[in-house]
Amino acid sequence: MTEPSLTLSELRLVAAAAGAAPSLHNSQPWRLRPSADLRTLSVFADRARAVPVADPDGRALHISVGAAVFNVRAAARHLGRSGSVRLCPSSADPDLLAVIDLTGSAPADEPDLQPAIEQRHSSRRPFANRDVPEAVIGELIAAAAQEGATLAVLEEAGVRRVLELTTEAERRTADDVARLAETRGWLRLEEPAADGIPAAALGPLDHDARVPMRSFTGTPPRPGSHTERFEALPQIAVITTHGDHPVDWLRAGQAMERVWLLATLRGVRASVLHQAVEWSDTRWRLRDPAEGPGHVQMVMRLGYGPPGARTARRAVEEILDMGDCQRLHDETSAGA
Ligand SMILES: Cc1cc2nc3c(=O)[nH]c(=O)nc-3n(C[C@H](O)[C@H](O)[C@H](O)COP(=O)(O)O)c2cc1C
Repeated sequence: MTEPSLTLSELRLVAAAAGAAPSLHNSQPWRLRPSADLRTLSVFADRARAVPVADPDGRALHISVGAAVFNVRAAARHLGRSGSVRLCPSSADPDLLAVIDLTGSAPADEPDLQPAIEQRHSSRRPFANRDVPEAVIGELIAAAAQEGATLAVLEEAGVRRVLELTTEAERRTADDVARLAETRGWLRLEEPAADGIPAAALGPLDHDARVPMRSFTGTPPRPGSHTERFEALPQIAVITTHGDHPVDWLRAGQAMERVWLLATLRGVRASVLHQAVEWSDTRWRLRDPAEGPGHVQMVMRLGYGPPGARTARRAVEEILDMGDCQRLHDETSAGA
């Protein structure tokens, strides 16, 4: 069945959902353009908001855009639409990454993830020494699989291996002047801003140096930073894909967001440990064929703890390119 076109207020809700997605350093590298009849929404990369030193191939950019695409789909479902998506990272327009149908009817058996979009934040604080139950892990694994990716929650040996590689990557990043300068450029420690990471969202470093949270400033640490004891053995999940092309990165981003929203609904917090993914050799060494296919795209820490602070987002008007749509709407309203 086909639903009518979105209204402008529904379009704003969908665009705000896209804008609330997680992204590397809260860079928000996306733009949205509705079709003139408000029946589809095209999602573009905004390469002016790329993070080129840490992410030269655009992997993290595509993962971030994939998360925004998933939020559009979740918001469309909430409005009773199917939100079916066509990924098109190699179309004639290299910035066009996805087109989402806003008019097909939603399948009845999908959970409504929209309420979790606003509640989800990165939680960089220590978690309790309490495992996420098997039943919830099973749901998260199924959520990733729905998006064509594999989520594996690692056993102790795998956790230790990933933490070691992340520690090595964090150390290297802290010694890399260009990377540090780029990362610092996304911190918003004094002035409020519509992007980047505010001081309130940064957490402590691990007192025992076992859980390598990103320092964001290297050495010396940022003013006011402190250490706390983190959970003894973090629960680490990795998202992997068979291929390692832009379309796989978009799938990984959608999988990450579906997993993160479902986790949020189940009261599970998460944060990202991405440092080892940002160096090609540590990314390669993250792989474990026993845990999933091919290519590691995302490392997440799951658990129970404080929710994490809200980070700012750009206004809907800034990410939404209304083009002809606004003109048509204004003409219709004026003629009514
Ligand atoms: C591809 C990607 C990489 C990220 N890497 C890290 C990381 O290494 N450390 C970290 O603390 N957060 C990381 N994040 C989380 C972002 O910093 C976070 O999503 C952003 O600041 C917005 O905040 P929010 O998740 O609370 O909405 C990453 C997110 C994405 C999508």
